[in-house]
Amino acid sequence: MEEQIQNLRNQAIARIMALASTEEVEEAKLEYLGRSGKINEVTRQIPSLEPERRSVVGQLINDAREAIEQALIAQITEIKNKTDKNKWFDPTIPGNKPQIGHLHLVTQAIEEISSIFREIGFSRARYPEVEWDWYAFESLNMPHDHPARDEWETFFLDTPENPKLGKMVLTPHTSNGQVREMERVTNPPAGGPPIRMINIAKCYRRQSDVSHVPMFHQFEGLVVDRGISIVHLKGTLDYFARRFFGSERKTRLRPYHFQFTEPSFEVDISCGVCLGRGCKLCKSGWLELGGAGMVHPNVLKAGNIDSTKYSGFAFGWGVERTHMMKSGLKMEDIRTLYSSDLRYLRQF
Ligand code: DAH
Repeated sequence: MEEQIQNLRNQAIARIMALASTEEVEEAKLEYLGRSGKINEVTRQIPSLEPERRSVVGQLINDAREAIEQALIAQITEIKNKTDKNKWFDPTIPGNKPQIGHLHLVTQAIEEISSIFREIGFSRARYPEVEWDWYAFESLNMPHDHPARDEWETFFLDTPENPKLGKMVLTPHTSNGQVREMERVTNPPAGGPPIRMINIAKCYRRQSDVSHVPMFHQFEGLVVDRGISIVHLKGTLDYFARRFFGSERKTRLRPYHFQFTEPSFEVDISCGVCLGRGCKLCKSGWLELGGAGMVHPNVLKAGNIDSTKYSGFAFGWGVERTHMMKSGLKMEDIRTLYSSDLRYLRQF
């Protein structure tokens, strides 16, 4: 019996090592290890042996089974390696070109906007997206229960309140950077103004429909120095409008109200089609861009800046909106911008 098992094992291994295809290996596997295969055939004879020999023979059979399994696996690998090596390889075939991507169109707009402001001496700043109520509202002259806050449909975080800074919010506008920037230049060792900041960042509001996304971008300008007036604001906006939209475009300031600026304006740009005369597209000749104004003394005070010595202007516009006004892009659903749909994104 023991000899029979040894022979079975040796013959099986020798045969398996000579096999040339995976199909043949599969057949051999059935023949030896299958339910009615040769190994089971000898296993079935165990009960007829004298009891003291059974465990020795059982052990031998197990070893043989394992050795045959190993041989089968080794042979499959061997066959696969051989066929791969024999495959004909033509090194002159052109390779698969990796797909080349490009920047998202909002990123392209952000780069363009920051480079235009860089030309006139603005530096790009970045402030937290998860922000204290103090910087987002309170320091901007909007006390706790002020109704103006309702316009910013704010996401509040479920975190403990800070006694001075209040709750945590997702920045609902980039104006949170104003007092942060004032603190940066007034905290020693910095020596105070001038400030020429452009803060471009993600903003979050509880709104999602065809013309709103819960996450969007704004760019916020802030200039603080001695003797800054509306003339500087107008000049800066005109420079941006000409560079971004085209040399024939103009801006106009329309009185408005914001808590953090006095006076406050909405900025309009002359329509690119009729250049201000009025047409079907724009009706009045002007298109609305965003908010601006002269920094309110209370905001300067919150940023430790002496409003008797310094004055400033600020503006804050939506990146997506500004970009769409330039490109004439009409989107049925603005959420498409952030849907990661390559069919859409590849067009830009
Ligand atoms: N933060 C305002 C908003 O989100 C926009 C704005 C208006 C920013 C006037 C300014 C400003 O800096 O002066 O609607």
